[in-house]
Amino acid sequence: MQKIISLTKRRGFVFPSSEIYGGFASCYDFGPLGVEMKNNIKNAWWSEMTKKQENIVGLDAAILMSPRVWQASGHLTAGFADELVECKKCHKRFKKDEIGRGSASNKCPECGGSLTKPKKFNLMMKTFVGSVEDKAATTYLRAETCQGIYVNFTNVLNSMRLKLPFGIAQIGKAFRNEITPGNFIYRTREFEQMEMQWFCTPKEANKFFEYWKKARVKWYLDLGIDKKKLRAIEVPAKERAHYARRQVDIEYKFPFGWQEIEGVHNRGNYDLSNHSKHSGQDLKYEGYFPYIVETSAGADRSFLTFLVDAYREVKGGRTETTEAVKEVEVLLKLDKKIAPVKVAILPLVKNKPALVKKAKEVYKLLKPYFYCQYDEVGSIGRRYRRIDEIGCPFAVTIDFDTLKKNDVTLRDRDTMKQKRIKIKELVEALKEKLSV
Ligand code: GAP
Repeated sequence: MQKIISLTKRRGFVFPSSEIYGGFASCYDFGPLGVEMKNNIKNAWWSEMTKKQENIVGLDAAILMSPRVWQASGHLTAGFADELVECKKCHKRFKKDEIGRGSASNKCPECGGSLTKPKKFNLMMKTFVGSVEDKAATTYLRAETCQGIYVNFTNVLNSMRLKLPFGIAQIGKAFRNEITPGNFIYRTREFEQMEMQWFCTPKEANKFFEYWKKARVKWYLDLGIDKKKLRAIEVPAKERAHYARRQVDIEYKFPFGWQEIEGVHNRGNYDLSNHSKHSGQDLKYEGYFPYIVETSAGADRSFLTFLVDAYREVKGGRTETTEAVKEVEVLLKLDKKIAPVKVAILPLVKNKPALVKKAKEVYKLLKPYFYCQYDEVGSIGRRYRRIDEIGCPFAVTIDFDTLKKNDVTLRDRDTMKQKRIKIKELVEALKEKLSV
């Protein structure tokens, strides 16, 4: 993890938030390559969950909602709280269920001091709306994006003239006052969710649950995630979220162990019936409350999953020059859809103005179609290594033959094969290879 974290900082994927002030509470900023990669993940999800589907529509609800939403959803009560213990000696706080059982369970894992009795700690992030900071002005940053979908159920249904079964998809920020954030961007207090809520008859909920569970696992596999490191685990009743009748966690094997990256939940009629009761509005469809099967993924966790899964260290000579032979080379084998930079443009040497001029022309030609990077600094071998390290799938090299024949070499990151191709055919060839 340390190597990956330092790579992400060095190459502009992820920076610690407010770093010049010493960082801030497990918050992170996505840098120039990070924002591209995260957008690619969100676009891949959006395309899969809306564009490729016949009956799923999108939504972008506000982060701030009436606090009554959170009363109705159960998030302000015990259901959305962790048990917190505090060390009486060093005053560090821990989640009770992370301390373990048995005789050591009341000792601080850091200093061995004794721990306080567990108390419930609600994870909602409180804020105030307007100029008066009193109880009446209190609301919360949303803890899950789906509540914005439930409160818009009839708006979407009526405006789009939908019929059951149908889905509503949304990507957006969510906030939780986690007691123990950590493992880089795995658990943070501000994060992005990619959620789809599937409304169906109670009778069909189990069938659709199976369908969406499989579909979501397939999404990760289709984007290159190692099958051996992905599993879907049925969550037993006592460990389920407060709204879930059934829950499957999709887990990935990180360097810090198997961890949840997405939840698939059968929420029954929990949400629509509670919002109906609390708002006084009829949220029934043809006389009954539809059931909801939800798929809830994290954009940041997906980001970490794709990054960790793609990370390779290759010993000696992946790139073509001898200077590389003894070095360990880092390769990010990111799927082409996810990779932030799609094409690197490299003049063979930088001290030949005619080559540089031609390379810049090629860069200008490709830039409107693909996210490109122009690089003329250092030997060609070093530059190949630099682009392998950020997972760039294709490199275009402009050499002396280019000047005579108007063709370039196109290097494939994974096979390292180089092929000559006419400049006038380059855009179409890359479009085909990148499937855009
Ligand atoms: N609406 C259902 C829901 O929110 P969840 O299992 O609590 O379910 C779903 O969260 C997903 O959101 C998780 O699988 C994870 O990918 C992401 N997520 C949740 N808490 C997170 C956190 N503190 N940091 C980063 N991602 C988080």
